[in-house]
Amino acid sequence: MTARDTPPDLDAAHAESANELARRADELARLEALTHGWEPAQQAVLSAIKTGIEELNAEALRRLIRALKGDEAAAAALRQAVRDPLVYQVLLFHGLVKEPLEHRVARALDEVRPMLKTHGGDVELVAVKFPDTVEVRLIGSCQSCPSSGETLSEGVEKAIKALCPEIATVTRVSRGAPEAAPGGAQVVHFVSPFARQQDAGWTDVCALAELHDDAIVSRAVEGRDVLLYRHGDTVSCLDNACAHMGMPLDGGQLEGGTLRCPYHGFVYLLETGECLTVPEVQLAVHAVKIVGERVAVRLRR
Ligand code: FES
Repeated sequence: MTARDTPPDLDAAHAESANELARRADELARLEALTHGWEPAQQAVLSAIKTGIEELNAEALRRLIRALKGDEAAAAALRQAVRDPLVYQVLLFHGLVKEPLEHRVARALDEVRPMLKTHGGDVELVAVKFPDTVEVRLIGSCQSCPSSGETLSEGVEKAIKALCPEIATVTRVSRGAPEAAPGGAQVVHFVSPFARQQDAGWTDVCALAELHDDAIVSRAVEGRDVLLYRHGDTVSCLDNACAHMGMPLDGGQLEGGTLRCPYHGFVYLLETGECLTVPEVQLAVHAVKIVGERVAVRLRR
């Protein structure tokens, strides 16, 4: 076997290719920087030339791929070629390959992470379940936040679906009991960092003194039956309707921050609405804030 016959070391080839890609990208960035001082008309001409070349390249590559895909062996070779970072990045640039789903989910989580961190929380990816489901875990303060349902739907889920339109379901998996903050105190923010119109939509519900520690009360808020649960200085508000068959939960058994449905025994974490019996379901959780000695709720629609 001659050196010419030796199969290439793919990893070494990829590393070399990635270095070459980085070198060329740096060179292009340097050349582009030189044009920043140009007159607008000159920049417009350059931009038109660049766009024209890119469109020609994209169309040529599209035709090439279409032709190769018709032949099984050629299609296999094409898939192999796409493993080269330079080939992949160029095809990605022209929209001819899709970024892997896991990468896009990771990017979406990176987008929301700074917002979550403003409230002492974070999110981690648990699993991407093909074809259309992503499982995440809220951690830090977000895990025990009464507004975590809103954080999930308004922040995490929206970011994932924006970058991954094929995803239909974003579910939250739990570690079980809420985490305690360092020093033993619970860090709880009543309002999700993704809450919109934070000053609007609040309904005054009751005095804080009406809520006894580690107890629930039911209230009607704007015609909706909800449960209020107080634990120390924190108050959470959940739909008073079991996720199983919609039966009222206020006659259920309270135990260690959980509530057991009196009908068929589903168990929920009262601070977050998570269902411990069937993790795929969750009680709707509404935002709560304490204004002076009053408790106000903003219903999730
Ligand atoms: S209605 Fe609650 S467990 Fe069935």
